[in-house]
Amino acid sequence: MTVFSDHPFHSNPNLPLYQGIYAHMRAAILSGELKSGTKLPSTRALADELKVSRNTVLNAYRQLLAEGYLESREGSGTFVAPFLPELLLTTPHPGAPKTAQPAWAESSHPSFSERAKAQIAASQPPSVRRSPYPFLPEAPALDAFPHQLWSRLIVRRARRMALSDFMYQDSAGYRPLREAIAAHLTISRQVHCTLDQVMIVPGSQGALDLAARMLINAGDPVWMEDPGYPGARGAFLGAGAQIIPIPVDNEGLVVETGIARAPRARMVYLTPSHQFPLGVTMSLSRRLSLLDWAKHANAYILEDDYDSEFRFAARPLATLQGLDEADRVIYIGTFSKVLFPSIRIGYLILPPPLVDPFLKVRRLIDIHSPMLEQAVLADFMIEGHFRRHLRRMRALYAERRGALLEAASELPLEIHSPEAGIHCVGWLPDGMDDLSLASRAADFDLDLTPVSNFSIEPLPRGGLLLGYGGFGAQEINDGVRRLGALLRTV
Ligand SMILES: Cc1ncc(COP(=O)(O)O)c(C=O)c1O
Repeated sequence: MTVFSDHPFHSNPNLPLYQGIYAHMRAAILSGELKSGTKLPSTRALADELKVSRNTVLNAYRQLLAEGYLESREGSGTFVAPFLPELLLTTPHPGAPKTAQPAWAESSHPSFSERAKAQIAASQPPSVRRSPYPFLPEAPALDAFPHQLWSRLIVRRARRMALSDFMYQDSAGYRPLREAIAAHLTISRQVHCTLDQVMIVPGSQGALDLAARMLINAGDPVWMEDPGYPGARGAFLGAGAQIIPIPVDNEGLVVETGIARAPRARMVYLTPSHQFPLGVTMSLSRRLSLLDWAKHANAYILEDDYDSEFRFAARPLATLQGLDEADRVIYIGTFSKVLFPSIRIGYLILPPPLVDPFLKVRRLIDIHSPMLEQAVLADFMIEGHFRRHLRRMRALYAERRGALLEAASELPLEIHSPEAGIHCVGWLPDGMDDLSLASRAADFDLDLTPVSNFSIEPLPRGGLLLGYGGFGAQEINDGVRRLGALLRTV
């Protein structure tokens, strides 16, 4: 490979060495110097060439893989990806040859927008199995959902729809639903908002897409928890963000590292109530220092509160939104965990100055979310079913978590399971690779999600996400037995 021999890179003292290597390779890929399909040297060979540790090169490769610049083909090595997110190009590689056509345009692939190419490379398919295997983390307790009541509410609503309900509606969403959400959040999450700040969107993903579109310019640095939620990373990459991975410790996102790596970041995405995937709760002092930094840096904070309703012991800490006095926090909520994912209803709580511009752009996307589902959900909330369902689910998830912890105590895993959410993390013994283990899980009728799937910088050890929410005690016990058998094969 000539990219380093022809153009030596100079490391930036404020950034880890691997980021210098990452940036160097990214620029070479985008300038066409490293063409689509080019095979890269092994991490060991490149580490020898650069006289750095293999881990440093591994980190750079992992970030390029996560952002879609590279792809790894099992058994054959690592290659420059066929679809390249050129939108991320901000500075061409110094001395790179000028190419009239980017490498991808010469291939027979259809030509997509820069936005689409970045997102095609970053997209991960959801699990759509009819009955998920243990321990799929995103599965809520669908067996305990009040299906009959829900169908009755749908039929009643459908019968009562007036002619005007069939016309276009408010882009912010169905007013009684927004009122119910605002009332619920004020009481249970200490969110401060008026009805006007609530916008109904198609799940958290719709919120992330809209926020990225509205607030990020190509090249803008965005802090992301590492490990973190790929749905958010994909939305930001589509807008051309430069993802700045920020480590998470037992107090949540390490704010000081964020400030050291990208003090002028445009945005930060985080899950402070129950960090995804590790499950940590962000400490109050970290929350306050994040808000303070955001205020001075004029940065936006995207607070994704995806499953915070499920807390089995202590009361949750106040949301960042509730502590924000400078209109920096955009709060995102979803009904995917508290009800079911296919409902595709979530919401944004916007700082007042953002409301009107967001509405204007929303009208150019899908105009508004479907009316019937919003009205049924409003009835479900207003008539008290939602509160009852949450109470029941909290008890059920606490029970299922207990069943998992008891059964898994026999396994050689170190389980980190805060009393919250619907999944926990089982850390593997040193040297056991979570990716290869997870790739064999289906042979054991298991659905195992490796923590490494979510990380940009390599983790000190491998881990598995163990979702318990969607599985009864018997399924959990049987699943743990099969997991034990899988671990014994290593
Ligand atoms: C961190 C995080 N945010 C949000 C969601 C839910 O996304 P959506 O509301 O788009 O279904 C998930 C689902 O697994 C998640 O892990």
